[in-house]
Amino acid sequence: MARSDLIIDLVKAGISGDQGSVRVTAEAIAADERQKKHTGVADRIAKALVATPKPGANGKSTQPAMRLKDGSGGIQRKEPDRSIDSLFLERQTRIACSELIEEQQRADVLRAHGLEPRHRLMLVGPPGNGKTSLAESLAYELALPLFVVRYDAIITSYLGDTATRLRRLFDFVKTEPCVLFFDEFDAIGKERGDVHETGEIKRVVTTLLLQLDDLPSYCVLVGATNHPELLDRATWRRFEIRLELSKPNDDQMIEFFAQKMKDFNGNFGFTAKRLRSAVDPKNFSEAEDFFMDIHRRHALAQGAITFRTLVKDRVSAWASQHGRITLDDRSTDPSAV
Ligand SMILES: Nc1ncnc2c1ncn2[C@@H]1O[C@H](COP(=O)(O)OP(=O)(O)OP(=O)(O)O)[C@@H](O)[C@H]1O
Ligand SMILES: [Mg+2]
Repeated sequence: MARSDLIIDLVKAGISGDQGSVRVTAEAIAADERQKKHTGVADRIAKALVATPKPGANGKSTQPAMRLKDGSGGIQRKEPDRSIDSLFLERQTRIACSELIEEQQRADVLRAHGLEPRHRLMLVGPPGNGKTSLAESLAYELALPLFVVRYDAIITSYLGDTATRLRRLFDFVKTEPCVLFFDEFDAIGKERGDVHETGEIKRVVTTLLLQLDDLPSYCVLVGATNHPELLDRATWRRFEIRLELSKPNDDQMIEFFAQKMKDFNGNFGFTAKRLRSAVDPKNFSEAEDFFMDIHRRHALAQGAITFRTLVKDRVSAWASQHGRITLDDRSTDPSAV
């Protein structure tokens, strides 16, 4: 079975009538199938392609169009909606971000001294502790659009195409000040293992490095990874600021709970510390999910049960759904909420 991202690309290209992309993607699928030793399927795709007139035959370009502007290509444009103060960050992380923001906002002062603001930041850390949220909040604080790179539209197994797409992506983002977010930055490194042509691998990495070097300082590049060890060393060096967003410690998590509890106008029947131990979230994201769960059930209950009972039920439901031990064996049936 061909890779799902290629099939989706093919469907999109077909729907939009982009023959160049249909051809390139179909060739990529054929190459993928051949690599998996599905020669019969690969041959049939190749045959079907021969029957299709080449778009270049009528003088038009055979280059696959990359529909970057409307967000359906390699980039998704988002209007950021999250302030940096809404995030729990280590003091040093917060300071580093403030410095980056200041350098960007006062770039003219720096340039008057022949200096450029820093604009390449790498965020490292386990899932659910704010890498994506921090990228968004930087865009918010800088009042810039957030461009999120879509790997499914960039990385293909078609020889030469990944490097070309990368180049086009950077050409596009350079046209305006923005925050460019490469989530799972290691995807390029990882993907390299899937490409068999050595020359091609080099070309992708070289393209990436050149583009990182050429990126103007008004484009803030934020990379994120859960696997820093997979990053190419030369790529790693390109990032002027590297920050670790690690798993929150007990005190930080209790503070997070206390803050979230304040947002509710109800008696939890728990202290922040006890509720945190009962829920025992692995990361901020899970803690956030727990409070969203309470929000939802509270809205639906419409006052039918006390807030205190509702919280107790949610703690039990949460514990059983997450394979954790309930606080209280006498907890009520969650379905009663
Ligand atoms: N440091 C934080 N402060 C406050 N809320 C946070 C923090 N980190 C994560 N959250 C909450 O968890 C949700 C998920 O976080 P986010 O997507 O930013 O994590 P991530 O590090 O990018 O995870 P992944 O590695 O899975 O992409 C956010 O929407 C936010 O509500
Ligand atoms: Mg993320």
